Amino acid sequence: MERFFSPQQTFAVRTHLRDSFLTNSLYCSQLVKDAIVDRLRNISGQRPAVQVENPDLLFDCRLYKNRLLLSFDLSASPFYQRAYRSRQLQASLKENLAAALVEWSQWHYGQPLADIFSGSGTIIFEAIYKAFNLPGGLLRKRFGFFNLEEFDRQNFDLLRKNWNYQIPETRLKIFCSDSDASALKAVSANWRNFPEWVRRAVELTQQKSDFRQLKGFSGFCLISNPPYGYRLQSEENLSLLYKDLGDFLKRKCPASKAFLLVGDLQLIKKIGLRPSWRRIVFNGPIECRFLKYELY
Ligand SMILES: C[S@@+](CC[C@H](N)C(=O)[O-])C[C@H]1O[C@@H](n2cnc3c(N)ncnc32)[C@H](O)[C@@H]1O
Repeated sequence: MERFFSPQQTFAVRTHLRDSFLTNSLYCSQLVKDAIVDRLRNISGQRPAVQVENPDLLFDCRLYKNRLLLSFDLSASPFYQRAYRSRQLQASLKENLAAALVEWSQWHYGQPLADIFSGSGTIIFEAIYKAFNLPGGLLRKRFGFFNLEEFDRQNFDLLRKNWNYQIPETRLKIFCSDSDASALKAVSANWRNFPEWVRRAVELTQQKSDFRQLKGFSGFCLISNPPYGYRLQSEENLSLLYKDLGDFLKRKCPASKAFLLVGDLQLIKKIGLRPSWRRIVFNGPIECRFLKYELY
């Protein structure tokens, strides 16, 4: 431990426990913290300080069936958090789920992309990550391993610089819209976090609009996560919304493919189109369907 961690650094311990003689995770954290302090004090004569918020090093302690595994948290925040989110909405998808939807859709940057229920833009941003082969941690300012004694900043910066980025041959055409003005504000705020060279290579059109008022899309790939149940809409409104969405796709999106993540299986029927493909997806605890529609 002392190879990675010096007494001048602050630390904290986070515990998860199950099926063990200790049942209180705070108490377990306290015991582990005391053991770490004792060890470093015995070796160096100095006592490291505990700092619960933003410590230099976070220890992850897992006690399961009375076996304890102690690790450094080298990430500090979950990997799916890409750090482009200045603003988040209540119903935003997790980045990793949005990335999976883009992957399953087989969207390729040569095809124009639209999300007509964009919320904060997670789906389009994940598509941009894919198109440019951006590493997931590109925008993150901090990782847990930055505070390790042996962390080499220069090498890390070099690695980021020399990453195998891809610059698509043509400017990406991406459209996003939402009926809620605050969603579009979130998209703009988030988009500003991307590097200038990425933003220059994307023609991103944003529009505040109910989807019914949109002109339509020919030859597009549409990927969306329309609202469902747990949000504020009444059931009746949602039924109508899904029926109108089906009509919109049928009438206004020729030669396109539409992919919808729907969290209420009853609402799928209201769309009135037969999906050519579907898969079961969990959005947190909500069992959803990811559906593909071929539109002619
Ligand atoms: C489940 S959220 C989408 C979340 C988004 N994928 C994200 O990660 O932030 C559904 C979005 O649909 C929008 N919405 C609801 N009714 C709409 C309508 N009739 N037309 C367009 N957008 C609508 C809501 O404002 C909300 O932002």
